[in-house]
Amino acid sequence: MAKFETQVGIVGAGPAGLMLSHLLHLHGIASVVLEAKQRAYCEERIRAGVLEHTSVETLRNAGVADRLMREGLRHEGIELGLHGRLHRIPFVELTGKAVTVYGQQEVVKDLISRRLSDSGDLRFDCGEVSLHDLEEICPSIHVEKEGNVDIISCDFIAGCDGFHGVSRSSIPAQALTVYDRTYPFAWLGILAEAPPSREELIYMRHERGFALYSMRSPRVTRLYLQCKHDEDLAEWSDDHIWNELHTRLGCSDGWHPTGGKILQKNVTGMRSFVVEPLQFGRLFLAGDSAHIVPPTGAKGMNLAFADVHYLAEALHERYRNNNGAKLDAYSATCLSRIWKAQRFSWWMTSLLHLFEDASPFDCKRQVAELEYVMRSRAAATSLAENYVGLPLD
Ligand code: FAD
Ligand code: PHB
Repeated sequence: MAKFETQVGIVGAGPAGLMLSHLLHLHGIASVVLEAKQRAYCEERIRAGVLEHTSVETLRNAGVADRLMREGLRHEGIELGLHGRLHRIPFVELTGKAVTVYGQQEVVKDLISRRLSDSGDLRFDCGEVSLHDLEEICPSIHVEKEGNVDIISCDFIAGCDGFHGVSRSSIPAQALTVYDRTYPFAWLGILAEAPPSREELIYMRHERGFALYSMRSPRVTRLYLQCKHDEDLAEWSDDHIWNELHTRLGCSDGWHPTGGKILQKNVTGMRSFVVEPLQFGRLFLAGDSAHIVPPTGAKGMNLAFADVHYLAEALHERYRNNNGAKLDAYSATCLSRIWKAQRFSWWMTSLLHLFEDASPFDCKRQVAELEYVMRSRAAATSLAENYVGLPLD
């Protein structure tokens, strides 16, 4: 058994845990990051791709955006599609801000490399984590691997271990209120070796189901199809996927996505989920451990960055001035932003997907709403300001 001490114990080396550890380091606060998976797994897992203006600013201010600024693709708008016709929502014209397409795994690589060059304590493949004495002055994290137990005593613990992690489930159920909504469909996503043939993302409403055209780099595209919530990937050959993408994304001006070798396929469920509060004693939840959004609004990773921005500021205030007011307000501060992102993600999902139980009235109303967003500057501005990211208060 080995004993360690740190100021903040962080569970999980996803975007939330790594960024928190880095922000704390900039404030002179020590942390240990405990990650169940190996480094290569964390660096290769394909997930989010769109960074809000707000997240880019957070990464820039923290000095970890050099490669992002060089390689990220700045997008000044998106296209919405209806009946095969596209309508552009010009973010910069409407809000003065843009978003950046840069893979989550690239952000993770950049943060890991920076933490290691700053001699950060990152423990990959750490073993089984359990949390103890959360309501005491000195909580601890136990890490068990091959019969050995390490005990890490902390002042505070940050639960950044995603939706299936151990942190949220360490809180007694009666201390949390859960808000949950599942959707009766999922996304079938592919990563393809095909240069983008369109400059911006396309969100297409189609009678056969929603489709999204996105990208990762000048050589790689990322595309999604609305599918059944229990879709069997084995039923989707590469040809079948490309045919369906051509049908749904094909435009009346003749454009359709360029095909290419499919590098990866996966099915992602759609869920809206929040727990309140984000604090139990000295444990603070951040990122997907506390909330999940359906991916249509591209908000998940961005919310994770906002949470840890607030948490790092609050811990800084606590250590520098012995003032715990911001820490006490952490949950409420985050939740105010989280619920706005929840509303936006739910709205984008409702606007664009095919709902099998929709009545003819629902379908007409959905089309009318999409046409309204396409034609009204006020409605388009509302979409744009949420998509590029509401400011951090
Ligand atoms: P995670 O990235 O889940 O990291 C948690 C870490 O904790 C993991 O490394 C995990 O291995 C580790 N862990 C788990 N349990 C334990 C344990 N018991 N002990 C130790 N470690 C543990 N978001 C966007 O903003 N924009 C997008 O365009 C977007 N697109 C998406 C597309 C898809 C297909 C999916 C699936 C998600 C998308 N998201 C998007 C959401 C985004 O990927 C997540 O919100 C983001 O990963 C949350 O970061 P996190 O650090 O909170 O959690
Ligand atoms: C992605 O590129 O993976 C992506 C883009 C926009 C979304 C969701 C996912 O809304």
